[in-house]
Amino acid sequence: MEKKKKVRKLKKIWIIILVIIVLLLAYPSYLTFKIVSKNYKISSVYNIVSKGIKDDIINNNYSKTVEVMVNSDSFVKDNLDNYFKIKYVVKDDFVTRINKLLECGYTADDINMINDKLSDDVTTTLYDNELIKDISNYMEFDFFKSENLYRYIDYFYGDYKDTVVAVNIGLDKELYEDVNVIKDFSEQVLANKYNKLDESFEPENLTAIKSSCTKGNVTQYLSKVAQVAFENMCDSALKEGKYILANSAYRSYSDQQDIYNVYFNLYGQNYVDNYVALPGYSEHQTGLALDVASRDYNTFRSSPEYTWMLNNAYKYGFILRYPEDKQAITGYKNEAWHFRYVGVEIATYIKEHNITYEEYYVMFLDK
Ligand code: DAL
Ligand code: ZN
Repeated sequence: MEKKKKVRKLKKIWIIILVIIVLLLAYPSYLTFKIVSKNYKISSVYNIVSKGIKDDIINNNYSKTVEVMVNSDSFVKDNLDNYFKIKYVVKDDFVTRINKLLECGYTADDINMINDKLSDDVTTTLYDNELIKDISNYMEFDFFKSENLYRYIDYFYGDYKDTVVAVNIGLDKELYEDVNVIKDFSEQVLANKYNKLDESFEPENLTAIKSSCTKGNVTQYLSKVAQVAFENMCDSALKEGKYILANSAYRSYSDQQDIYNVYFNLYGQNYVDNYVALPGYSEHQTGLALDVASRDYNTFRSSPEYTWMLNNAYKYGFILRYPEDKQAITGYKNEAWHFRYVGVEIATYIKEHNITYEEYYVMFLDK
């Protein structure tokens, strides 16, 4: 009896040992299965287990960032939570940049935006500079420009959107300081004190405005699209008893030079700085802008036509280009008579939001 009991006990022990062996052998396969079923490569399992993050891996969704980091020599376990939040992007220096940015104090959200929006060159400058705590506040706008990052920071004046817009326009620089020569001319061209046309530039399709829509005897021209829209507007206004007449439309570079000289000689530097563009910098050279006049009033501002234009010009695609109180943006004092063709959609937006063409341009057109 005693012997039988002993044998049974021995059997039991062996079974237990066997079960333990089976479990020990099975556990790694089970772990591997769990990790691989999360989409990690089988070759990553060793690092995941040996770096002590298997539970995090099993309890979270797959992260390519985590997989890349754990397989690198620079895996920092304390950064794991952030690694999970950072989207993987194809970059040669991905591992270094993520660790460096985290070390600088950037959050995972910041880093996702940095990877999306900052050029590699500008990203590198972040490593050696003080943490820009509010960097995401600048980057959130579609029209954020990586190359302007430090200009935004230097120029910041309380509102992130306004600052980004202002710097993109160039307002942090002196007028004429850093002039862009316009290469791609289109109906949406922006000509101002930061963007000039070449001396030789002449718009295509210059078309005469019919004499019933013109003031005086000199034939006035606009680009076809603006000429059609202007005549249409002039005819509509006439039906309401208003005379919106073209007074000075297209001006060549040399016309503009002549006009500039005349006004300079008559009224001096201060006047031309505020009211007359230097040749090359004038919208009149685009064939898309014109000065209007009414038939019966010497001062357009005092005419009923002016009010009519403020209320209706946008329907024909025209905007008041130099509105009151916007000189800091447009570079010119209010000109009640100067209108610019931008198309109905843009003109409507500009009117509804009471913004300048400069602001519209940098937010929506300057890609
Ligand atoms: N008066 C506008 C600014 C021009 O000369 O183009
Ligand atoms: Zn004008």
